Amino acid sequence: MTSGQTNTSRALLATCVAAAARAAEIIRERSDNRRSLDWEVKSHADFVTDVDRAAERAITEVVSSRHADAKILGEELSPSLQDSTGLTFVVDPLDGTTNFLHGVPAYAVSIAAMVGGELTAGVVLNVANGELFSATAGGGARLNGQPISVSPITEPSRALIGTGFPFKDGTHVDEYLRTLPRIMQETAGIRRPGAASLDLAAVACGRFEAFWELKLAPWDIAAGLLLIREAGGIATDLSGRPCPVDHTALVAGNPSMHAWLLERVT
Ligand code: IPD
Ligand code: CA
Ligand code: CA
Repeated sequence: MTSGQTNTSRALLATCVAAAARAAEIIRERSDNRRSLDWEVKSHADFVTDVDRAAERAITEVVSSRHADAKILGEELSPSLQDSTGLTFVVDPLDGTTNFLHGVPAYAVSIAAMVGGELTAGVVLNVANGELFSATAGGGARLNGQPISVSPITEPSRALIGTGFPFKDGTHVDEYLRTLPRIMQETAGIRRPGAASLDLAAVACGRFEAFWELKLAPWDIAAGLLLIREAGGIATDLSGRPCPVDHTALVAGNPSMHAWLLERVT
């Protein structure tokens, strides 16, 4: 890693942190009045409110003020961007919208910066409790500034596994129902907290030994993938190839539990 690359990734991380903090401010301001929010239905059980959109607009403003040439792949305002050349920020302005709408304190802002398609910096900010997960390529992963690493637990019987089962559409329900019994019986338990970016952060800091979900979007996973990689973990698709920043299934974990889980979910 050259000093030029290090400076670039630090500058991009500073932008991610500033943009996430601004979005979190907006989300917090509105959380007291969440009962008066207008839920717009994107599809079955998939809601969006003005809060999601206002947070994404604020992120766009912070990013554009610092990097005039940056493109944004954002869940609410620019979900179809295909161009991965140059500098792209991948943004979920409010991950865990369902939790937010119900007052369940597990929702986050997730922002990653990619240069020429490579993850370079990323943050996941837990809006409800203020935990800030961050990473730069080659610079390690951190929680509130302190280095983090994946869990050393390799025994399935002691492992806590995160997942996200389907709620927005009926796809993959049968696969989950086939897979769940073995994982439930062979591990210390399964959790479904409801915000994929926080699930990946939980793997990166060793709270979960592994995690899987069969349908995720680039904005759910971009920052989390970098966190896991920099924390010594592995994240792949179902074929075992490095997980792309794309619409995809994902299996992640410490190296041992990743291999164990991949075998059980495929
Ligand atoms: C959702 C959450 C959830 C996951 C879904 C995501 P949203 O994101 O991360 O945990 O299971 O697949 O779409 O819609 O709250 O941003
Ligand atoms: Ca999301
Ligand atoms: Ca979202």
